[in-house]
Amino acid sequence: MRVVIQDNYDKMCKWAANYIAGKINAHKEERPFVLGLPTGSSPIGVYKELVEMNKAGKVSFANVVTFNMDEYLGLPREHDQSYWYFMHEYLFDHLVDMKPENINILNGMTDDPEGECARYEEKIASYGGIDLFMGGIGVDGHLAFNEPYTSLASRTGVRDLTTDTRIVNSRFFGNDPEKVPAQALSVGIGTVTDSKEVLVLISGHNKARALAATVEGGVSQRWTCSALQLHNAAIIACDEEACGELMVDTYKYFLDIEKKERL
Ligand code: GLP
Repeated sequence: MRVVIQDNYDKMCKWAANYIAGKINAHKEERPFVLGLPTGSSPIGVYKELVEMNKAGKVSFANVVTFNMDEYLGLPREHDQSYWYFMHEYLFDHLVDMKPENINILNGMTDDPEGECARYEEKIASYGGIDLFMGGIGVDGHLAFNEPYTSLASRTGVRDLTTDTRIVNSRFFGNDPEKVPAQALSVGIGTVTDSKEVLVLISGHNKARALAATVEGGVSQRWTCSALQLHNAAIIACDEEACGELMVDTYKYFLDIEKKERL
């Protein structure tokens, strides 16, 4: 696993956006570049950078197909907290050459959740899998909506949200955890780790325990993000604030080995 530490959130986002754009630009095959995407506050700065680069002609999304990680069950697209709404607000509506038919987001209003999830897996497979999956994590280490104790082999499916996650996410729902949907559709940990590359953003003091668990802890379903230790091309992009719980040696090791990446 690589851990790329930057001074602050803005630099972390700039680095991640450059990394993603570099991968898209290096993709010379006719088949599309398949990009997995998250929501949450962590990727907002990355999306801002990617939009700027796209508008400046530095990266094209014309041959990019996207798959989002998750979606709340029971929220219509038009709801301002649906992940469909989020993705259009922060990314898709601003890209000059993203094809709407290349955007894939789980349908939270489906009357057949299991079927919807099975079709999502099939569609990912039809493209030959995901080239690069960007993710964020929750304070409890959840990746997509794979809460603690979700199988590390899980596939796309229906997930129950923990009370903790509903409390954390209630900041977007008028601070009322009851207003946060109790369930979501989410790619599985296995879906993410099947991707050729995984890039996870970890920013801020409140993610420090999760970062330490991801990098230094044992592989455990207690911290579903720790499954990344078994992936042969996983990168954590983080900021200094998130490093507070790392051992000094771990921190120094990654600063040293990734010093070329420091912005
Ligand atoms: C939600 C999403 C996750 C996301 C997490 C962290 O629970 N389902 O995919 O990574 O929030 O969000 P934030 O980046 O806002 O801390």
